[in-house]
Amino acid sequence: MFANAAGMPFPDEFLFGASTSAHQTEGGNTNSDWWQLEHRDGSPAEPSGDAADSYHRWPVDMDLLAELGFTDYRFSIEWARIEPAAGHFSRAALAHYRRMVEGALERGLRPMVTLHHFTLPRWFAERGGWLAPDAAERFARYVAATAPVIGEGVRHVCTINEPNILAALGSPTATWGEHPPPGLPLPDPDLVAALIEAHRAAVLAVKAISPEIQVGWSVANQVYQAVPGAETVADAYRRPREDVFLEAARADDWIGVQAYTRTRIGHDGPLPVPEEAERTLTGWEFYPGALGEALRHTADVVGDVPIIVTENGIATRDDDRRVSYARHALDDLAQALADGLDIRGYLHRSALDTYEWGSYRPTFGLIAVDPTTFLRVPKPSARWLGRIARRGVLPWAAL
Ligand code: BGC
Repeated sequence: MFANAAGMPFPDEFLFGASTSAHQTEGGNTNSDWWQLEHRDGSPAEPSGDAADSYHRWPVDMDLLAELGFTDYRFSIEWARIEPAAGHFSRAALAHYRRMVEGALERGLRPMVTLHHFTLPRWFAERGGWLAPDAAERFARYVAATAPVIGEGVRHVCTINEPNILAALGSPTATWGEHPPPGLPLPDPDLVAALIEAHRAAVLAVKAISPEIQVGWSVANQVYQAVPGAETVADAYRRPREDVFLEAARADDWIGVQAYTRTRIGHDGPLPVPEEAERTLTGWEFYPGALGEALRHTADVVGDVPIIVTENGIATRDDDRRVSYARHALDDLAQALADGLDIRGYLHRSALDTYEWGSYRPTFGLIAVDPTTFLRVPKPSARWLGRIARRGVLPWAAL
C-alpha cells in the first residue's frame, strides 16, 4: 500500500460500501418487539410502517449500490420473520434472505450479514428477552437455522449490532432528539453478561455452518473525551459502556467500529453538546473526527483483531455536509492505516434514508427514498463515495 499525491490506495480486499438494517428498511416487520412498541398506546415512536419497502424493493437498492460503484453491502436478516414462533422456522423467509445474498453476489456486492440488529421476535421478548436463562441457546438455534442463507458466499457475519446500546438502553430511541441527554445509562451487568454469552454461542453456531465465515460484532463507539483533569472519570465511565464489549471481541475474526459523534466527559460525567456547536438532525454534534478516534481506541483495546468500520455517517438535509463529514472521516481512516492499524473496510451508514428508531426525520441516507412512492434517488454524496469505491483510493489530505 503506497500513498501518493492522489491518495491512499485501499488495502487488498478492502470492503467499501454501505449499511442498512432490516427493521429500518424492510417495512411491515409486524412480528417484532419494535412493531409492538411502536403501536403501544401512547407510544412516542412514530410507526415504521412500510419503511423503504426494501423487503420487496431490495433488488432496486442493490442495483443502485452496485451502479454507484460500491463493492460491499451490509444488511441484516430479521429473526422475527425467520423464526416467527419459537422453534418454527419459515422456509419462505430463509429463501427470501438467500435470494438477497445471491442477488448481492450477482451484482458484484459482497454481502455482510447482521444476524440481530435491535429487533427481537415478539415471542423471544415476551419470555424475558436476553435475560431469559436460555436466551443464548435460543439465539444460537436461530443462528444455526440461517445456514441456508449464510452458508455460501457470505464472508462476513455480524452477530449482534451494538450490544452496548442494547445493554444501556434496551432500545436505541433515547440516544437522539432535539437535545438528547448526554451519555448513556449504566448497563445492567446481567444483560452485559447475557449478550456476551449470546455472541459467543452465535460465533460457534456460525463456525459450525462454515469455518470460513469471518464472525464479529459491532460496537457503538461513543468517543469519550475527558476534559483536562477528568481522565479517570472518563475511563471509569467508558469501561462498562464500551470497553467490556471490545474486550469480549479479542478472540473474534474482526471487530466492527460504529462512530458518529463524541461525548465529552467532565468531572461529574457526560457534558451536553455546547450551544455553539453544529448539530445534526439527531441533535448530535457534527464531529467527523469521531471515526479516527474510535478506530484508535478500538485498536488499543482489542489488540491485533482486524477492524471494519461497519457504520459511520450523519443525519442531515444538507448533503454537502455529509460529503464534508465523510471526507474528514476517510482522511482520518487513511491516516490510521498509514500508522499501521489493521482496518479492513468502510461501510457508510446509511445506504438509504430509513426509519430512525421512532422517527423518519433524521435522514442518514446516501440515497433518498420518497415515503409515498418509494422512489429512490441517489444523493451527490452517494456518487462521491461511489467514485472513491471505483478508484479504490482513499482521499488523504495529509498528502
Ligand atoms: C445503529 C443504527 C442507527 C444509527 C443512528 C446505530 O445506533 O446501528 O441502526 O440508526 O446508529 O442512530
